[in-house]
Amino acid sequence: MNETLALCYGTRPQIIKASVLLEELARGWDVLSVDTGQHYDYELNALQYEQLGVRPPQVYLEVGSGDHATQTGAILARAAEVLVQRRPTAVVVIGDTNSTLGCALAAVQRRIPVIHVEAGMRGADAMMAEEVNRRIVDVISTVLCAPSEVAERRLNLEHVAGTVVRTGDVARDVLVRNLSRVPRAADTADWPLAPAAPFVFATLHRAELTDNVGHFSGVVNALGRLDFPVVLAAHPRTRIALERHGLLDRLPPSVHLRRPLGYLQSLGCVRDAVTVVTDSGGVQREAYWLGTPCVTVRKETEWEETVRLGANVLVAPARAAEDLAPTVRRQAGRAGRPDGWDRDAYGTGEAAARIREAVEAWRTR
Ligand code: UD1
Repeated sequence: MNETLALCYGTRPQIIKASVLLEELARGWDVLSVDTGQHYDYELNALQYEQLGVRPPQVYLEVGSGDHATQTGAILARAAEVLVQRRPTAVVVIGDTNSTLGCALAAVQRRIPVIHVEAGMRGADAMMAEEVNRRIVDVISTVLCAPSEVAERRLNLEHVAGTVVRTGDVARDVLVRNLSRVPRAADTADWPLAPAAPFVFATLHRAELTDNVGHFSGVVNALGRLDFPVVLAAHPRTRIALERHGLLDRLPPSVHLRRPLGYLQSLGCVRDAVTVVTDSGGVQREAYWLGTPCVTVRKETEWEETVRLGANVLVAPARAAEDLAPTVRRQAGRAGRPDGWDRDAYGTGEAAARIREAVEAWRTR
């Protein structure tokens, strides 16, 4: 009989990555899938399961929303109960969310080793929740799966206790696997534009942006002054912030607000847009892989290779009113050019297999 490996996830991008990890890890292990329920809306959760054919989780922790302390605490307590009952050999966590931290802590407190997928990412804002989460999880992990050379080198410089392996990024595996199924953006339900009309695809969801009314309204209004219409797929947090800041009824006419999209429709929009404007790490990489220029509305990005290779340009939220329109114009001018950038900074789509090999190597050691 195989040993058990728990795979813990809970947010939309983690469900997407779990789609390939579950399958790959199941080649050598009984995989116990645990969805924390951090994301629970249909579009953020069930829709991704449906589109990517992810089997329903064996355990659903139903933690829901809350401030960081409440949410992380609930994940920690509920994950601990499951781990005590099921005693997996190791726990696999992904990325830097409260689900990542809660499940990793629950594991090490029970002396269960942690495998961290997407290890070694760093930003400069040491107080940002995701930054805190990833640093802590890297310190307590036994196997650290780095998506890039920079991440691998950084972890070695930090002298982390666990074993560092460069595996590439699982998000690329998912993209490679599903690309042939991606529909045209214009086929998205309720598409607001003529089928051939050029557009900018935008997503904004980070608390650092949505909670700062000055920056957030600056960015939203700047979207209305671009040379192209904007399709803004709004995360629940973004819609709530638009309402709270009184922006929902005053959206610029060229900004078309839509509900969160499924993985496949979202990729279609990234691929077909003239430029993407985002604060999401996932969307930055998808644009980079699909050859669509990106503008990231943040002061920094953990995915620094996308900037270094010329695919991505940063605009600080405080500067959006002045800088967003000219930056998007420059980036849009590059769309469709044949002299694209090197697309392999995060591997070529075999990360899940490398992660399985890394776990097996650790187990046989
Ligand atoms: C989380 C991650 C972030 C990641 C993002 C991916 C943390 C600290 N942050 O941010 O790194 O980029 O997921 O999407 O874990 N909400 C709903 N329905 C849902 C989920 C959320 O309405 O299904 C609303 C709630 O009001 C909630 C807010 O969105 O308070 C924020 O959700 P939360 O899970 O706390 O963090 P995200 O912003 O999604």
